[in-house]
Amino acid sequence: MSFELHRPRRLRAHAQLRDMVADTRLAASDFTAPLFVRSGKGMKVPVKSMPGVFQFSVDTAVEELKRLARLGVSSYLLFGITDAGKKDAVGSHAHSAENEVCRTLKAAKDAGIPMLAITDLCYCEYTDHGHCGPLVGTKKQEAGSKNQEEFTVDNDATVARLGEQAVLHAACGADVVAPSGMMDNMIAGIRGALDEAGKRDTAILSYAVKYASSFYGPFRDAAESPPQFGDRKSYQMDYRGAGGVKEALREAAIDVAQGADMIMVKPGMAYLDILRAVTDAVPVPTAVYQVSGEYAMIKAAAANGWIDEKGVVMETMHAFKRAGAGFVLTYYAGDLAGWVK
Ligand code: PBG
Repeated sequence: MSFELHRPRRLRAHAQLRDMVADTRLAASDFTAPLFVRSGKGMKVPVKSMPGVFQFSVDTAVEELKRLARLGVSSYLLFGITDAGKKDAVGSHAHSAENEVCRTLKAAKDAGIPMLAITDLCYCEYTDHGHCGPLVGTKKQEAGSKNQEEFTVDNDATVARLGEQAVLHAACGADVVAPSGMMDNMIAGIRGALDEAGKRDTAILSYAVKYASSFYGPFRDAAESPPQFGDRKSYQMDYRGAGGVKEALREAAIDVAQGADMIMVKPGMAYLDILRAVTDAVPVPTAVYQVSGEYAMIKAAAANGWIDEKGVVMETMHAFKRAGAGFVLTYYAGDLAGWVK
């Protein structure tokens, strides 16, 4: 057989043929829109490092959800922003039915928003120190210490509280809870608490494979949740990989065994290898989060006229699908719903 017989370009010669053989396809239902909700009324506060992203108050959040629903976006992910005066060491405001997340869930249901409601389940948006749960010192008496080596998030205390927070979100109308704090055995704790409360149909989207990443920078502006000291490396994963991809597979396997309905990999663009490996290994759908820093980079380059924004975003979405993602959490959800029509 002569190599001359092989002319791969034949398949690229017609637009219709390219469409016909295209392997990955996008639909508006592939995208989940993150939403930040704060106190106040009539608020739509731009997030500086994320052009096009806003902090909403409950009333304007409902208007934004109506807009997204009209565009065909079928799910949203809620983050609550806590007023500085309401933050404390354990994140008590997370357990108030009057907090921003709970009020938005109820308002969205009252307004008949036909979207799946997903809530981020964590404490960093509620604690005064900005870590993802109550802190404990390596020696108990040093719990107030700000030395990075002397504290960490108290895993089991946080897991117990996460169960309570999940039940509250479910009671307020969350269809899916998405724990993002990277606590060991958080899924078992949350599933147990939900079932005990009769919330058997509330699904869990686990941020199972989440790396300590500089790509979260702009999010911490948006959610007003940066760690006040130290970093998250004692609970989020090291991108150098302990045992390479095996660490990711282990995290995912543990969460599936404990009842996670869906597994998320985060961040997105720099972790396509991980997404593919996890997707191949788990018997549940996988999602990927194109995080704030990825969004900010594309926005900044596009604003300078250096790249074609829509072209680059579409390319990243197809890459996520090619790597196995069932759906994508992205700040471009609204734009994408229009682009893929
Ligand atoms: C909360 C949480 C974070 C993100 C999602 N949930 C921040 C963090 O872990 O520091 C980041 C999302 C983004 O960057 O878009 N734990």
